[in-house]
Amino acid sequence: MLPNSPDREDQMAAEPHGAPTTPAPGAIDMSVPNPARIYDYLLGGAHNFAVDRETADRVMAAGKVGPKIAWANRSFLRRAVRYMIASGIDQFLDLGSGIPTVGNVHEIAQAANPAARVVYVDSDPVAVTHARQLLADNDHATILDADLRDADAVLRAADRTGLLDLSRPLGILLVAVFHFVPDSADPAGILHRYCAAARGGGLLALSHYTDEAYSAEKRELSKVGVQEYQERTRTAPISRHRDQLAELLAGAGLDLVEPGIVWAPQWRPDPGDEVPDDPSDTEIRALVARVPAH
Ligand SMILES: C[S@@+](CC[C@H](N)C(=O)[O-])C[C@H]1O[C@@H](n2cnc3c(N)ncnc32)[C@H](O)[C@@H]1O
Repeated sequence: MLPNSPDREDQMAAEPHGAPTTPAPGAIDMSVPNPARIYDYLLGGAHNFAVDRETADRVMAAGKVGPKIAWANRSFLRRAVRYMIASGIDQFLDLGSGIPTVGNVHEIAQAANPAARVVYVDSDPVAVTHARQLLADNDHATILDADLRDADAVLRAADRTGLLDLSRPLGILLVAVFHFVPDSADPAGILHRYCAAARGGGLLALSHYTDEAYSAEKRELSKVGVQEYQERTRTAPISRHRDQLAELLAGAGLDLVEPGIVWAPQWRPDPGDEVPDDPSDTEIRALVARVPAH
């Protein structure tokens, strides 16, 4: 089904938030490894299959991805949500939210503000099914089964949940997902559309895979890992460098929050957090930016 087809929008609208569902027969193909489940495996989660674990192990052996990267990203997500809460944000749109693992956005946000509301969005049936089960008893959080590339449909569906008030400041999370959006899908246009919905005090948190600090040797090794990942999962993360991210943000008129675009562990580490000597090892750039008022 196309992301913007009427059927999909009806489906998004028809699903009451938190309603437990079972996936459509055949929706989850256990023989094909899946990025959301591989990420869950790297974080030590339980929502993955043998084929995901085997792929992750093979790709790691080829010098690519690993628990260090997944954890650096997940920790950035936690700090960014806490920063947003401290900045007065009490409603979140988490795009590409993934399989619920320890430290979900609603847990972090609602620990600080029990009234905080979260709309999760993911296009992976495993992530959506697990999130729905997890959120069944939570009146302040829900998940939409949707493709974030269709920003207008996602925003309409998010509005229909009744959880978000799009006239108030919104926290938008694009954490470890924009590298799955190719240039051909117009990432600048997508970002612009979401940020337009967050005008008037909104914040954006974004993290992104980059190969900008690779040594020549690592670059060669990485090609093998990327190829392996691509062949097996039928998708692959696209590297974007710091300057490309800066350009994307400037195009959407966003103002970076200090310390700007940095390696994930360098983004406002908590007291006692260990920032590695070479944080570029994490291969994840991270940032929070302010959406201008107009
Ligand atoms: C690496 S996980 C990141 C999860 C979470 N944001 C985090 O950082 O901990 C990427 C997630 O993005 C989802 N995803 C990828 N492309 C997507 C798209 N076009 N629309 C919605 N979700 C997408 C995948 O299904 C996966 O669950």
